[in-house]
Amino acid sequence: MTSAKLWGGRQTGALNPAFEAFNRSLPFDQRLVSMDIVGSVAWAKALGQAEVLKAAEVAELCSALEQLAEEVRGDPDLLNASDAEDVHAFVEEALIAKLGDLGKRLHTGRSRNDQVATDMRLYQRAAAKDISSRIQDLIAALVELAEREIDTVLPGYTHLQRAQPISAGHHALCYAEMLARDEGRLSDALARQDTCPLGSGALAGTAFDLDREALAKDLGFGAATANSLDAVASRDSQLELVFACSTAMLTLSRLAEDWIFFASQEAGFLKLSDEVTTGSSLMPQKKNPDALELLRGKASRVMGHWTTLASLQKGLPLAYNKDLQEDKEALFDAMDTTLACLEVAAVCVRGAKYDPQACEAACAGGHLDATDLADLLVAKGVPFRDAHERIGILVRAADQEGVGLSQLSPALSQQHLPELASLDLTEELSLTRILERRCVLGGTAPSRVRAAIDTWKTRLKSWNN
Ligand code: ARG
Repeated sequence: MTSAKLWGGRQTGALNPAFEAFNRSLPFDQRLVSMDIVGSVAWAKALGQAEVLKAAEVAELCSALEQLAEEVRGDPDLLNASDAEDVHAFVEEALIAKLGDLGKRLHTGRSRNDQVATDMRLYQRAAAKDISSRIQDLIAALVELAEREIDTVLPGYTHLQRAQPISAGHHALCYAEMLARDEGRLSDALARQDTCPLGSGALAGTAFDLDREALAKDLGFGAATANSLDAVASRDSQLELVFACSTAMLTLSRLAEDWIFFASQEAGFLKLSDEVTTGSSLMPQKKNPDALELLRGKASRVMGHWTTLASLQKGLPLAYNKDLQEDKEALFDAMDTTLACLEVAAVCVRGAKYDPQACEAACAGGHLDATDLADLLVAKGVPFRDAHERIGILVRAADQEGVGLSQLSPALSQQHLPELASLDLTEELSLTRILERRCVLGGTAPSRVRAAIDTWKTRLKSWNN
């Protein structure tokens, strides 16, 4: 048995059951219920101010809506038990069940089109704020890691070939920078969607003389939308949020990939906590980085949702079309997935521990000091291009001897590096010296990393206030 439809007058025939199920959005838009109720309360008040409803009617509607909000909070299964078409129908039907004819007055001048656009923006605001605070928490975890591991020296890579040594703290703070931009994209998107569609009607605006700016303020928006068609037909705010989620997920997937490698036996730089690894059902020795692999995998899923939302809007005629109902599952899943991934990523970061000996041992191979040796020649007046070539030749010689650049035979050193005869190369090419030299702004010198950590701590504090 299905209840009467909100739009029941025009059609005489019953819906085909397959289409009826196909058409329903309550199974997935029920999470908008509290937003729909808040929007309805504001709408009732606006109708009161416009003298469409009497003050006593507004009061009755508002208290019934608040009661409904209570009931739904107490028993979320109320929504699952309902056969309403969507969340808006659910709220309206419940109101009519409570108030009879008065409940039927609430939809005056309103359409589900401006209603759903408003509900979604209210939802988006709350969900984006949750994601922002999780990003901040992950950044805090990375800053803690940077502080713990500031003196751990990792081989830094380009082309996945060992390149130059870096502080593990510097590596962690790279992800803090990336995540802060991801968070910035979310906040920017929120600022652009800070307008209230309610009062736009189905597409042309409402015929009742409502103070839409006051309504917008009542719902916590900065202003009312300026064009009714735009208000009901646009979903770019969702596209922007899911784009911001996608870039955050890309950041997580790169961190995941770095750490999957760091934690491999091939590298052995990083130990992941047992909290985020699993074993094998077959091989008793395994410790698999499943959490990180899922972070990497779920990035694809969120990016897929962006594609869904973009293609949903491509070539869509103005104004509302039912295609737009498809925005919900994509948006909700993108935001849920991103939120869950950020939480798990923070657990991974808080439990991770570098193995400083293994990291340092890896820095001993691969001539990570070659650039510094060339720079020492430059300091003695050799043009960099010539120094580069000379060190390149020495790298070949060192490989033949099976030694590092600072352990070359005295004969080779005298022949190729006469300018450096007075220097203690072991000291000059130590990891400590190599790192210390890079104390330029943004560099990996521990003093710089320390300063960056302090800047981050101040920034995190100002976010928390
Ligand atoms: N469930 C619909 C959606 O999510 C609500 C809007 C319905 N509007 C309409 N004209 N049928 O898009």
